[in-house]
Amino acid sequence: MNYENLKKVDKESYKIFVAEQARQQDYINLIPSENYTSEAVLEALASVFVNKYSEGYPKARYYPGNENVDQIELLGQERARKLFKLGKEWFVNVQPYSGSPANLAVYIGLLGKDDTALGMELAAGGHLTHGHKVSASGKLFNFIQYGVSWDGVIDYKKLEELAKEKKPKLIVAGTTAYPRTLDFKRFKQIANSVKALLMVDMAHIAGLVAAGVHPSPFPYADIVTTTTHKTLRGPRGAIIFAKNKELAEKIDRAVFPGIQGGPHDNQTLAIAAALKEAASEKFQKYASNIVRNAKILSIELSKHGFELVSGGTDNHLMLIDLKNKGISGRQAEEWLYQAGIIVNRNAVPFDPRKPIDPSGIRLGTPAVTTRGMGKSEMKKIATWIKEVIFNPKSVNKVRKETLSLTKKFPLSYRF
Ligand SMILES: Cc1ncc(COP(=O)(O)O)c(C=O)c1O
Repeated sequence: MNYENLKKVDKESYKIFVAEQARQQDYINLIPSENYTSEAVLEALASVFVNKYSEGYPKARYYPGNENVDQIELLGQERARKLFKLGKEWFVNVQPYSGSPANLAVYIGLLGKDDTALGMELAAGGHLTHGHKVSASGKLFNFIQYGVSWDGVIDYKKLEELAKEKKPKLIVAGTTAYPRTLDFKRFKQIANSVKALLMVDMAHIAGLVAAGVHPSPFPYADIVTTTTHKTLRGPRGAIIFAKNKELAEKIDRAVFPGIQGGPHDNQTLAIAAALKEAASEKFQKYASNIVRNAKILSIELSKHGFELVSGGTDNHLMLIDLKNKGISGRQAEEWLYQAGIIVNRNAVPFDPRKPIDPSGIRLGTPAVTTRGMGKSEMKKIATWIKEVIFNPKSVNKVRKETLSLTKKFPLSYRF
């Protein structure tokens, strides 16, 4: 895409767009929830499907002219089923606008106002939509939060006790800042012991699950939600999987007409394309490289004296606890940004500081792995992080070096 028309029609917007392209090219992006989609996905997002209204579901629309939309939605559903090796009992909804409305749709579909659910607390690595009090999930339903032990790992024993005490209707497993493998079997045993449904939000790890480098939640979960834009490397969007028709019908109704109107059909086209890409051998190699890079980066950071929550990582991300370094997550985020390295500040378990300026930073490897970076780059990045945090005066020197690295790994889009 050359964007000549945007340039002609709207110079101001075009200028901002060009600046963003350059920013994405010029920085080392370690935000674990971000990635670079393929050009195929970008083309799909820019397609004429953006013009269409198609409220409803395939073959049951509230608008005419949806024969092609039906096809692309069914293709997306089928590809999602195939990618995650699911039988016909699984139902798939590819319409959620993003991860947060997908999770809300599950709660609205399955929970009554006074029903109790368990979700992981934000400070322990859970997501806002898992019952935090500032989120609709926490405002509309009786969510109770569980966490991790001092070692940063989920305390399954405590979770079991909590489940027995609170008798939830739904248990949500899934994380946004948790470096360890989730024990889905254990979650299911706990859910079964109190007759609760198990929902897994695999937003962060979906690409790893698809490639078989993280255990799959599907043998254990009743409902699985995922975003499509993180390790899965598709467009912004989400998918909800339900294990039987009864659950699926409730969830479908909650998505539309419950909380959404017309689906974003250009997004559906892009999800279908991303799912095809994710089924390739190339993607499998990519996902295993994400995990490999994360392991190398975590080992190097530890060697440089950084303390990692839970001591390391099993997946695509890690958390540095900066308490013993005498600086806050926000300060580290700022210095590293000036040096050309993007990480985001994050709470660590039992964080004494406030979420706006917590004690840790979160780093992940999906985006840098898409750019083709590997072992030697992970080592360099770890060294630069050490230099900046231990000696902020080195920021300008490191910025020159990070810029020369990003030049060697151009994004696939030709600007
Ligand atoms: C585990 C998890 N679930 C849900 C979401 C929400 O997704 P979105 O930002 O697309 O609404 C996120 C986003 O970071 C997430 O990490």
